[in-house]
Order: sequence, then structure tokens, then C-alpha cells
Amino acid sequence: MKKLLLILALLGSTLFVANADENKEAIKKSMQSMETSMAFIQKGFLYNHRGRIKKGITALRREVKNIDMFMIKNDKDLQFNAKEYAIAETKALDLMASRILEDFDKGNKEAVMIEFQQVLNRCVTCHALVRRW
Ligand code: HEC
Repeated sequence: MKKLLLILALLGSTLFVANADENKEAIKKSMQSMETSMAFIQKGFLYNHRGRIKKGITALRREVKNIDMFMIKNDKDLQFNAKEYAIAETKALDLMASRILEDFDKGNKEAVMIEFQQVLNRCVTCHALVRRW
């Protein structure tokens, strides 16, 4: 019986490790996709190419929805509710991304630049929580 329990415990812990690794890979993939979208949007500004901006925004909004699926660890502040924070960030990023295209269409250049900057700030702020920078 003891042996069986030990085997089960070992099996459980390896499964847990596998899941954590999978989660890590999923985070990376999603994050890399968001980075590509941000670069795409920036290219759209520089080339004055609405199609690129739209494509980047659409991809970013799709991916941003995944942020709150991840367990984000933060050792610095035990009060920190990672899940809640991620959900709030998903909403804020989605809203801001949608505004970029609206303001671009209105020719509101300054607003577009501020919104893009705010999106980037939110990316970096979360990264500062999870890995300082
Ligand atoms: C709510 C938290 C959070 C937000 C918001 C966030 N990230 Fe991340 N990001 C993470 C975590 C967690 C990792 C993985 C841990 C690490 O790299 O240290 C990560 C890693 C990355 C990486 C490195 C991936 C790799 O292959 O190593 C890139 C690139 C990235 N994020 C881009 C972005 C962009 C672009 C945004 C904004 C549009 C963004 N992130 C917003 C939490 C976040």
C-alpha cells in the first residue's frame, strides 16, 4: 500500500511538472505573438499603412484575451492577486488596442501615440512584476 501511494505521489508530481512546463510554453508563445503584433502596429504607423495596423490590433486583441489564463507568480508582494491583475490587464489592453485603430481613423495622431505607449507600458509593468524588467 505504501509503495502504491509513493508511486502515485511520484506520478502526480511529474504530471504537475509537465503541466507547469506546458503552461510556460503557452505563455511564451502567446507573449511572442503579442510582441510580433506590437511590431506590426508600429510598422503600420511608420509606413502609414492602415492594413498593417488593423492586422496587428486584431492579432493583439485575440492574444491579449489569453493573459488571464496564466498563473503569474510574484514573490515580492503576497497581497498581490495575480489572477485579478491579469484579468484587469486583459480588459485594459483590449480596450486600448481598440482605441488605437479608432483614433488612427480619425487622424488623431497624438492620441494614437499615447495609446500605443500605454499598451507598451502595461506590458512592461507586468514584466517588472514577474521578472523585474
Ligand atoms: C499580466 C502580465 C503580463 C502582461 C500584461 C504582459 N506580459 Fe509578457 N510576459 C508575462 C510572463 C509571465 C512572461 C513569461 C515570464 C518571463 O519571460 O519572465 C512574459 C514574457 C514575455 C515575452 C518573452 C517571451 C519569451 O519567449 O521569453 C515577451 C516578448 C512578452 N512577454 C511580450 C509582451 C507584450 C508585447 C505584452 C503587451 C502587449 C505583454 N507581454 C504583456 C506576463 C505579462
